[in-house]
Amino acid sequence: MSLPTEEQIREKLTAVIDPELRRNIVELGMVRSIEIKEDGQVNVTVSLTTPGCPIRSHFQDAVVQQVSSLDGVTGVGVGFDVLSDDEKAGLRETLGRGKLPQGALAQVKNVICVASGKGGVGKSTMTANLAAALQAQGQKAGALDCDVYGYSIPRMLGVDQKPEVNAERKIMPPIAASGVKTMSIGYFVEQNSAVVWRGPMLHKAIQQFLEDVAWGELDYLLLDLPPGTGDIAMTLAQLLPQAKITIVTTPQPAAQSVARRSAEMADKVDLEVMGIIENMSGFTTPTGETFSIFGEGGGQLLADELEVPLLGTVPLSEELREHADVGTPLAVEQPDSPAGKAIVDIAKRIIASSPRELPMLQTIQSSASEAPKMGARARELPVVQ
Ligand SMILES: Nc1ncnc2c1ncn2[C@@H]1O[C@H](COP(=O)(O)OP(=O)(O)OP(=O)(O)O)[C@@H](O)[C@H]1O
Ligand SMILES: [Mg+2]
Repeated sequence: MSLPTEEQIREKLTAVIDPELRRNIVELGMVRSIEIKEDGQVNVTVSLTTPGCPIRSHFQDAVVQQVSSLDGVTGVGVGFDVLSDDEKAGLRETLGRGKLPQGALAQVKNVICVASGKGGVGKSTMTANLAAALQAQGQKAGALDCDVYGYSIPRMLGVDQKPEVNAERKIMPPIAASGVKTMSIGYFVEQNSAVVWRGPMLHKAIQQFLEDVAWGELDYLLLDLPPGTGDIAMTLAQLLPQAKITIVTTPQPAAQSVARRSAEMADKVDLEVMGIIENMSGFTTPTGETFSIFGEGGGQLLADELEVPLLGTVPLSEELREHADVGTPLAVEQPDSPAGKAIVDIAKRIIASSPRELPMLQTIQSSASEAPKMGARARELPVVQ
């Protein structure tokens, strides 16, 4: 039987992706060498960005799986080395990011940004409750506060401890009573102190939360975004090509135009919108009468317009707010209450529609549409003075 060519092996390896960078290892220049022996043994050396890469074995499995599917291959050996400083510098340049990830998010299966066009629609409430609900469904969940001015995750998840630094000098995320791993700028600043952030500082703080926090294995990392569509979204898009966006909106048409703006932002930064959550929908009195205080149907309208699913509608609920205020998420405290149940249902829908495995392989056919050309997202961040 004839042996495969190096070209054929390379072609097969374009299906193996780096889960943090979301690009294939051939495109990333991470295939150091390919050796084809006469007996059909193929040895591949993969160059990693960091020697302590926690997902080596995933790379190994994916390479073996791909290469061994070629005719004539009798065995596959996978070796590893580390990119040289020059190679890393080149990669940073093509990717348009100041620092390459060191594996902090390598074991995170799904990254979901919770966004909206305007403030106060319930992003933080949804992030905190959904993270707790996902954890209660047997998933490993994390909640990252990307709102450095109006951080709310520590309060809403009831965390009151300072993060510690581990032996590898990574920040350990404090764990809420619900089991959710959390990170917030609130752990590092004095309470109620006014922090004035400039663009580059903002970028750096968020980058640290993504790269220097020991997130470990997570099924879901939810990111609570600040209101608006500014710098943070751009930073996140650069650092998290694997993220998806969920848009929270209220039911009235006026707020909808704002939510649409955040969808446009998602488009601009090239992240997929996974669905819409309509919050503050009808209010039901104890006698069962329902009032549509903020109008009706805005979530569905937006979902239709963007051709994405409506993940659920969450009613106005005094107890949802009260529980958020004291750090005991309603979705786990009272999962059968109307608002609690609505959020648990959204969590279940998210679980049903997201991958359970680390994204190591992508089909070659879809790679063209899923992975934009290198450098396409390389943008300078605006500096806010
Ligand atoms: N379904 C709901 N019923 C009642 N109150 C709610 C509901 N959702 C959110 N709230 C309350 O509305 C207020 C704003 O919610 P939240 O802080 O979650 O919004 P946000 O979008 O994160 O705001 P910001 O843009 O300022 O970050 C909070 O007091 C919260 O408890
Ligand atoms: Mg908020």
